[in-house]
Amino acid sequence: MKILVTGGAGYIGSHTIVELMKAGYDVLAIDNFDNSYPSVLENLAKITGKTIEFEEVDIRDKAALKKYINAHKDIDAVIHFAANKAVGESVALPLKYYENNVGGTVNLLEAMQEANINQIVFSSSCTVYGEATPPVDENAAIPVAQSPYGNTKQICEEILTDQSKACDLKVVALRYFNPVGAHESALIGELPIGVPNNLVPFITQTAIGKREVLTVFGDDYPTPDGTCIRDYIHVVDLALAHVAAINYLAQKKYTEAFSVFNLGTGRGNSVLEVIKTFEAVSGVKLNYKIGPRRAGDVVQVYAACDKAANELGWRTQKSLEECMLSAWQWEKAIASSSVN
Ligand code: NAD
Ligand code: UFG
Repeated sequence: MKILVTGGAGYIGSHTIVELMKAGYDVLAIDNFDNSYPSVLENLAKITGKTIEFEEVDIRDKAALKKYINAHKDIDAVIHFAANKAVGESVALPLKYYENNVGGTVNLLEAMQEANINQIVFSSSCTVYGEATPPVDENAAIPVAQSPYGNTKQICEEILTDQSKACDLKVVALRYFNPVGAHESALIGELPIGVPNNLVPFITQTAIGKREVLTVFGDDYPTPDGTCIRDYIHVVDLALAHVAAINYLAQKKYTEAFSVFNLGTGRGNSVLEVIKTFEAVSGVKLNYKIGPRRAGDVVQVYAACDKAANELGWRTQKSLEECMLSAWQWEKAIASSSVN
């Protein structure tokens, strides 16, 4: 099978390409390098031993996207990662998010329909659940989104549902919890541009000396140690779930045209637990302080993962220790190279 990966130079896309190629799939990738670097492709070639079939395409450019897809009509399925993902930026620049995340998805679906490509795996997010009672399963209510970014994920899931009813499209939407960590080679990982918003890159950048101090956003939450709880999933486990989703589509295991799965570990860890685990595996004492709560943070969220286990035959294999160690090895690799 031939799989097109949009956003293939990005954090999750690049790890997924490795696992797809390992599983024997032919992979094509597109990206506009809005939040990634061409060097990722060289590093992917080092990991896989193969040149990545890549073209620079912006999914907002409908004509260019259609031209590309029409020239590759033998694509069997698309994994759609390309999007902007910074929650805070989406509040300041909502139109950027609606144009790219929603408009880009509409362009992609139009191009796929024209080329008779009828299988798609979509990157959604646990942010669609807002403040739900964990463990959160796929039937939990979807409240009004707390940010334009979260809204783009809700809207895209609705668009995909509608399109799957209107034509012969099969959809797997994957709701990721908190992806962290990096490939064991330390050749690919997350490359946050500017000051990271997310906890784990902020931890590793503080440990390496790029940031002076990590602020823990609040320790007065109603949790055992007072800090927020999340479900941190290793990016390689997440990548493997995409291979499972493609197999699920290929083997026509679905019972409905639109299927949705949570991708998490089923385990919740607090911010302080993450910091302590990092310190234990890295041997570095982290400079951190307790600060005020961050606006918009939910108290705790972690996944119920039974559906993915039962239907995709997938569950996570890696521990929080492996997440933190690989993130640390990646940070050290960045520091010793010219990337970023
Ligand atoms: P990322 O920014 O590392 O990767 C996205 C890639 O898409 C980047 O390489 C970027 O350059 C590319 N891209 C963006 N707009 C594009 C466009 N118009 N045309 C072509 N390429 C474009 O992000 P990621 O962490 O790998 O996230 C991948 C997907 O997963 C996104 O849809 C994101 O919303 C979703 N997601 C991520 C997280 C997370 O915490 N990382 C959580 C839930 C969902
Ligand atoms: N945190 C800190 N200090 C920091 C950064 C984060 O204490 O410097 C805390 C946050 O308050 C939160 C936890 O660490 O309690 C995790 O925060 P992240 O920003 O890493 O992750 P979020 O759960 O807030 O959000 C992530 C993605 C969103 C996505 C959401 C759900 O960043 O894009 O998961 O998928 F919408």
